[in-house]
Amino acid sequence: MKDADKFSLNQRPRRNRKSAGVRALVRETWLSPQSLVAPLFIMDGDNRQESIASMPGISRRTIDLTVREVQELADLGIGAVALFPKIDDGKKDSTASLSRDPDDIVPRCVQAIKKAVPQTVVITDVAMDPYSSDGHDGLVRDGQIINDETLPILADMALNQARAGSDMVAPSDMMDGRVGYIRQALDQAGFTDVGILSYAAKYCSSFYGPFRDALDSSPKAGDKKTYQMDYANQQEALREVQLDVAEGADMVMIKPALSYLDVIRSVKEAVSIPVAAYHVSGEYAMVKAAAERGWIDEQQAVIEILTSIKRAGADVIFTYFARDYASYKI
Ligand code: PBG
Repeated sequence: MKDADKFSLNQRPRRNRKSAGVRALVRETWLSPQSLVAPLFIMDGDNRQESIASMPGISRRTIDLTVREVQELADLGIGAVALFPKIDDGKKDSTASLSRDPDDIVPRCVQAIKKAVPQTVVITDVAMDPYSSDGHDGLVRDGQIINDETLPILADMALNQARAGSDMVAPSDMMDGRVGYIRQALDQAGFTDVGILSYAAKYCSSFYGPFRDALDSSPKAGDKKTYQMDYANQQEALREVQLDVAEGADMVMIKPALSYLDVIRSVKEAVSIPVAAYHVSGEYAMVKAAAERGWIDEQQAVIEILTSIKRAGADVIFTYFARDYASYKI
């Protein structure tokens, strides 16, 4: 072009990025701490916490310290927690009996939190693995995971949690039909107000490793491929989600999150109930490991990751960074 004065562009997207003020004005996605759920690892004992080697900054805590943590989270604006118990090997058995016991750590912890911080939403996990001597989410017989016989176990576990005051039970086991089965059991026992947050599209992922370290809950034999989904599949996620919606789920989850943003988006477009995503332990560990080496800026990476999960369509995000995110000055 000869005469630069005559050059005119009527579309200049950069105008909407020219200052922090304009950028804030046109920003499409805002993530508030109120949309975050902090997963908490709990263990028996008093006034103790243990760090988890593969999850720097995350600890297992006894109930008393967990209650204190929940209070601090609430003060920071994180109003929801999800509980995951570490069970001693000696207390595990093939039917996960302890998970139906009112004296188990989960119901006791729910009661303690609800007493001290009643406004915090307590979400409890429904799956056999932390309590199972086989380390599987369902009942194992001859190396097979037995779907239908697992359902009453899950329903009793959910009832045990509901009686303790859990706001929402979260089946993470991926057995067929469990949402409807649990819904019926809750309703028959009068717990019509206890919600079901279904881990609807839970993939068989290599990103759960640090979580299984935290709870010592790895399968003793085999893998979880006959119940957790193949990470190559997206259509199947819609099928799983639609079944759970029909069975009465109040919220559906996609897990993990970052490698599954496309799934989050398509589920968001397919359902009219809230969609949750779980930024899982391995995803947390990767950020921590790179940040420790100085290879990425942790805070910037965390904000970018969590914002992208929200942008993809997640209304609610489970993340081990919940506390950190709420502490950032954004
Ligand atoms: C098991 C369960 C798992 C997680 C949540 N619930 C692990 C698994 O399926 O083996 C993983 C969460 C994480 O990695 O942060 N019911």
